Amino acid sequence: MLEIDIIAVVPGLLEGPFSHSILHRAAEKQLLKIRVIDLREFGIGQYRQIDDYAFGGGAGMVLMAQPLAEAIRHLQNENVYDEIIYLTPDGETLNQSISNQLSLKSKLLLICGHYKGIDERIRQKFVTREISIGDYVLSGGELAAAVLVDTIGRLIPGVLNDGSSALLDSFQDDLLAPPVYTRPAEWEDMKVPDILISGHEAKIDDWRFQQSLDRTKERRPDLLKDES
Ligand code: ADE
Repeated sequence: MLEIDIIAVVPGLLEGPFSHSILHRAAEKQLLKIRVIDLREFGIGQYRQIDDYAFGGGAGMVLMAQPLAEAIRHLQNENVYDEIIYLTPDGETLNQSISNQLSLKSKLLLICGHYKGIDERIRQKFVTREISIGDYVLSGGELAAAVLVDTIGRLIPGVLNDGSSALLDSFQDDLLAPPVYTRPAEWEDMKVPDILISGHEAKIDDWRFQQSLDRTKERRPDLLKDES
């Protein structure tokens, strides 16, 4: 069982992704437990303030240290986290290897930023890892958290029906996936490669590997550079 707690400013953004399909099934099978915590519950004063102007000026608000610290400490009273992860465009870029590592943990805490980000002191005091999902800026960390949880959740043994299929994904061995086809074998004058309906398992494996290699060389030669 992997437990993931997520501190969010807009919890509603996380309702959809976790209530459908694979992640929903993972939760039903008790393999994954996701809990979304609304940062505003720890906001300050009557208006439950969570953000304030940036010192030094400039446009945009910053999430304050105190509400975040209270939320984190409240959760830490009952949980020991393997990692406290802040989703941010200046973190390390997510890749399959990071997702593989995280899928082996038992408790993760994700922090979603908003506006101009979070007070730097929270990063220094609590955060153990910072992850970006790509070189672009989202309006908040929630969608990034959903992406991260999806990549992790599907790797937990038993979550996918076919236990082997996550291992055959693109990137799992630093290669892109080969092309795939399903019925009918002929569609609008386009035929499935003969080899795939030949029944020769070993030859099919060879073909798929070669296709993966060719596709990777053509589209993502950077993934092969360590092997040359
Ligand atoms: N928050 C805003 N943009 C982000 C990104 N690209 N990755 C992770 N968190 C973010």
